[in-house]
Amino acid sequence: MSSAIELLWTEKYRPRGLKDIVNQREIVERLMKFVHEKNMPHLLFAGPPGTGKTTAAHALAHDLYGEEYHQYMLELNASDERGIDTIREKVKEFARSRTSPDIAFKIILLDEADNMTADAQQALRRLMELYSANTRFILAANYPSKIIDPIQSRCAFFRFTPLSKEDVVARLKYIADNEKVEYDEDALETIYEISEGDMRKAINMLQTAASLGRVTTDSVYKVVGLARPKDIKEMLEQALKGDFSGARELLRKVMIEYGLSGEDVVKQIHRELFSADLKLPEDLRVMIADYLGEIHYRIVEGSDDDIQLSAFLAWLAVMGRRVGAQS
Ligand SMILES: Nc1ncnc2c1ncn2[C@@H]1O[C@H](COP(=O)(O)OP(=O)(O)OP(=O)(O)O)[C@@H](O)[C@H]1O
Ligand SMILES: [Mg+2]
Repeated sequence: MSSAIELLWTEKYRPRGLKDIVNQREIVERLMKFVHEKNMPHLLFAGPPGTGKTTAAHALAHDLYGEEYHQYMLELNASDERGIDTIREKVKEFARSRTSPDIAFKIILLDEADNMTADAQQALRRLMELYSANTRFILAANYPSKIIDPIQSRCAFFRFTPLSKEDVVARLKYIADNEKVEYDEDALETIYEISEGDMRKAINMLQTAASLGRVTTDSVYKVVGLARPKDIKEMLEQALKGDFSGARELLRKVMIEYGLSGEDVVKQIHRELFSADLKLPEDLRVMIADYLGEIHYRIVEGSDDDIQLSAFLAWLAVMGRRVGAQS
């Protein structure tokens, strides 16, 4: 098996029709109504990456026009097109093309619409009006607040939300079983935690981890280039106990084993610092966060990773002893 030519699972398992979309129930129901009525207004799909916006637009077109829906759908990406003039040309040409025998309009999907300047959006608004007789726009955006009001008021608004743990884990199981991939249950939960409800990220992680064999929590952390939170926590605890050498040993281990940069380690320490697992007096937590910010700055500015992180662990050891002596 050559993984290079293997289909991306995000594509292979992209839902075809509206009924295959995971969760986003209210959205799916509203879209199904448009299919039933064979009519719809302009739509604005807003929400974080990997939650199904592009998928829903394609699924809607699929259900409206059937398998051959591509001829009735123009897909544009606002970030790729060279400005509103190219968009205008493409829309003009597409509006002239044939419509489907049973549906009076064609669909223009404009992805990343929030990347357009306000001026370009004004021009877009005129296009939406000019061609409204036989086209409907679906605008997709991560940040709907960047879409100008006159456009927002012309569109039905759909808010996509990050997918829940149950949904993501269930989808990953379905894919893993289909691909005959072996996995540990908790590895799928770890994928969910890291992906934060972004299904694209989750599926990509699963595919990369699966290329190494059985999917385990360790293999997941490896492929995403993160250390196990447990290792980071242990390192901090050792340092706070005053065991500087032990902590430094763990630091080396995570940097080498997981191939982390100093900046990666700082980010993970930051995450661990605010997780409930690490028991610390509140004022110490604040002081550590403050000093960590300083270390981050120095590393970004080009100071040596090892020197800075060792200094941080040494400082933690001193702080830990001081707090220990007080209590
Ligand atoms: N609700 C969902 N149900 C099933 N699969 C999903 C869902 N959302 C996302 N996916 C999976 O994740 C992939 C990416 O989803 P999609 O392209 O729709 O995201 P998006 O919301 O358009 O993200 P972006 O803002 O980055 O464009 C899809 O190919 C599909 O495999
Ligand atoms: Mg998209």
